[in-house]
Amino acid sequence: MPKLNIALFYGGKSVEHEVSICSAVNVFDSLDKKKYNVFTIFIARNGKWYLRKSVKASKGQIEVMPLLNARYNIVSAPSYKKKIALKIDIAFPVIHGPNGEDGTIQGLFELMNIPYVGCSVAASALSMEKHISKIIAQKCGIPVLPHVMVNGFFDFDLGKIKKTVKKWGYPVFVKPVRLGSSVGVTKVNRESGLKKAILRALKFDTDVIIEKGVKDAREIVCGVLGGGKEKTKSSLCGEVRLFNVEFYDYKTKYLDSKSHELATPADLPKKMARVLREKSVEFFNAIGGTGFARIDYMLDKNASKYYFCEINTIPGFTDESLFPALWEKTGLKFSEALDKAVKIALSNASHKKNLKTNPFK
Ligand SMILES: Nc1ncnc2c1ncn2[C@@H]1O[C@H](COP(=O)(O)OP(=O)(O)O)[C@@H](O)[C@H]1O
Ligand SMILES: [Mg+2]
Repeated sequence: MPKLNIALFYGGKSVEHEVSICSAVNVFDSLDKKKYNVFTIFIARNGKWYLRKSVKASKGQIEVMPLLNARYNIVSAPSYKKKIALKIDIAFPVIHGPNGEDGTIQGLFELMNIPYVGCSVAASALSMEKHISKIIAQKCGIPVLPHVMVNGFFDFDLGKIKKTVKKWGYPVFVKPVRLGSSVGVTKVNRESGLKKAILRALKFDTDVIIEKGVKDAREIVCGVLGGGKEKTKSSLCGEVRLFNVEFYDYKTKYLDSKSHELATPADLPKKMARVLREKSVEFFNAIGGTGFARIDYMLDKNASKYYFCEINTIPGFTDESLFPALWEKTGLKFSEALDKAVKIALSNASHKKNLKTNPFK
């Protein structure tokens, strides 16, 4: 089989820009260079695209742009003197959060008519929406925590929210609906902190979710791989163990390695581990997921109750990240997991190519 031209897209107009670069380094290193020519397309914070020699090599980068349905699908920007034209066989978005994990860039790849690794437009978009993904979780019989929504386009009724939250009891978590890496998330321990937390989350998103908190929550994660023709499989469950921090916030995730550790497999009753793995597969299939995802749960202290927290359709792939570690422990090297995701993307694309686009022919 000839080598495939695979293009990594990373960086992005997202608060998770830096994390994406670290993920892209790992994906670049793990993709088998005997099978793939790997191109690295950095997306700057202003949204411009640059072809780089390697993930972090900004020197000599060339501004590029996409072409729709063309022989060459990545070309140098008109302003750029030296002309280049590339034919990409498959795109691999490694962008967390808005404009990368939410179906937007996936939509562009659809229009460019190139296969892409990971979830479809729809599966990506609904996974990004914390409240919509909870509705699907419920349909799959996965418990979710009580929550209320605030829409930033309208004035919110703080009194009504306070009344609802009082019934649940504190703490509650206030979060932007379509973000990640705990950006804009606040743990609210008392009523007086509610308004400030809502206003803070509204700085990052037009919609905010206020969710009942699980006291002394255990955070359990499960990786999935598959979709399309490939039967979805789950990884072992892992646990993020926190030390002396209020919750798994941005600082804990990326800046303070001493405040947490990853335990794989998570120390769970066998039945709970089995249920979480089965439900992860069921959920991924329910959203029509393709490629990979990490599904996160909250457990109570005794591991007797579990709740859906969120799904990440482009989970972190950094050295510190859970997804590669979960699969390694399950017996699949990260490079093999990536191969599988590429294979799934190609088989989906060839299946879609045969679909009719004209009702009369
Ligand atoms: N309902 C909850 N109960 C307890 N902790 C929570 C709850 N919701 C969020 N958290 C804490 O906040 C973190 C970030 O929330 P999450 O919903 O995963 O958002 P993000 O997409 O930013 O990762 C979680 O990892 C957890 O530490
Ligand atoms: Mg999370």
